[in-house]
Amino acid sequence: METRHNFGSKIGAVLAAAGSAVGLGNVWRFPTEVGNNGGAAFIMVYLLCILVIGIPVMMSEFLIGRHTHANTITAFSKLAPGKWWRIEGVAGVFVAFMILSYYIIVSGWTLYYLIQSVSGRLMADRDYNAVFDTYVSDPWLPVLTGASFMFLTHFIIARGVQSGIERFSKLMMPMLLFIIGILVVCSFGMPGSKEGLRFLLKPDLAKLTGSVVLSAVGQAFYSLSLAMGCLCTYASYFRPDTNLPKTAAGVSIIDTMVAVLSGFIIFPAVFSVEAVDVTAGPGLVFKTLPSVFNIAFGHLPWLGYAFSGFFYMLLLLAALTSAMSLHESVTAYVLEAFHMSRRKAAAAVSFSCMTLGVACSLSFGPWSHLTLFGLNIFELFDFVSSKIILPLGGIVICLFTGWYLDRSLVESELTNGGKLRFRLFRLYYFIIRFVAPLAIAAVFVHELF
Ligand code: PFF
Repeated sequence: METRHNFGSKIGAVLAAAGSAVGLGNVWRFPTEVGNNGGAAFIMVYLLCILVIGIPVMMSEFLIGRHTHANTITAFSKLAPGKWWRIEGVAGVFVAFMILSYYIIVSGWTLYYLIQSVSGRLMADRDYNAVFDTYVSDPWLPVLTGASFMFLTHFIIARGVQSGIERFSKLMMPMLLFIIGILVVCSFGMPGSKEGLRFLLKPDLAKLTGSVVLSAVGQAFYSLSLAMGCLCTYASYFRPDTNLPKTAAGVSIIDTMVAVLSGFIIFPAVFSVEAVDVTAGPGLVFKTLPSVFNIAFGHLPWLGYAFSGFFYMLLLLAALTSAMSLHESVTAYVLEAFHMSRRKAAAAVSFSCMTLGVACSLSFGPWSHLTLFGLNIFELFDFVSSKIILPLGGIVICLFTGWYLDRSLVESELTNGGKLRFRLFRLYYFIIRFVAPLAIAAVFVHELF
């Protein structure tokens, strides 16, 4: 079996974990949720969820991974030998596999839109609903773009922890932040920027309903990559001197900043164009935005190419760093459990995920008639993974850390054996035992019924 590597530097560890968190969920799902849930009021609750639930749960995943130095399934087996808790590890790896299968397809869409943008074809089109629908229902093209994206992910994972994940995270995360900076500045210069900013910054408390709160908790979990074994796997490569509470706070700050800044990019642009609906849902990024780019930059097409090109590049980088962590969560298990070389394990994961990915992609076209409970294959994967396994996994992680593990083990791991001070430990422990599991249970019940 290959030697297990750690991340070479603390900044590498933070950027890799932040790369996992920053993904389509920030640039695509967050603005959609903000649009659907009334703007600033949603953002307020979201920030609270990150602080009160997201960071403590992330710390728990970190401590499980770093303490055991193993893939997620082995981690639970080591901490609770012969007990049922192992199922949580299995569920984590399984759900990462499922999510990766459809995540690569949506990521492939971003690759396609990037190519269309820089080649100028996107700006030349007019009917963006038809462009999107024709593309996703094609039997070949989205499979091809998804496979190209999978190839990129595979290439990085096969290179290993330090020269693959860490090196590319250190390269891509600063690029991503730089692109966000450019786009925010451009977006502020747009005619609708004032209205967009008002929507994002002025909370209308009347819009604060129970369903808004629950959507915010769900978004926080998805965005921080919690309960999927990814952060647990990455933490198994953290060095013994990594400060877990600080790293969790750093990752959450980067993730939240990217989400909020994506809102600052999208809404001023969207409000610049009359008759564009902010509550457009998932089509916001692939249908609404191209028409915004077209109308806003119609007189200066080269600026449109640049703006839309940068935007889809941002989406692609974000998707790639997240897909890497999903892939690694499964690859680490396969290579450690079956004593394979990393290259072979990564190839087995890429190939089997891509096979499922083809089914997900075809569910928008030739296989759209194959449904279960009214959901096509793609929607079924999304539903089962993010609405069922994920929240249940979140609850189990809280119960495992808060009630099963020894308090002294938890405290020792979070303070590096007493070398660091962590003043908020008692608050953390209270949250992880009571507040977080109850909040997640509320989301679960709400989402399901
Ligand atoms: N957090 C990622 C995003 O916001 O897009 C999605 C994700 C990645 C979820 C990795 C779960 C995961 F394990």
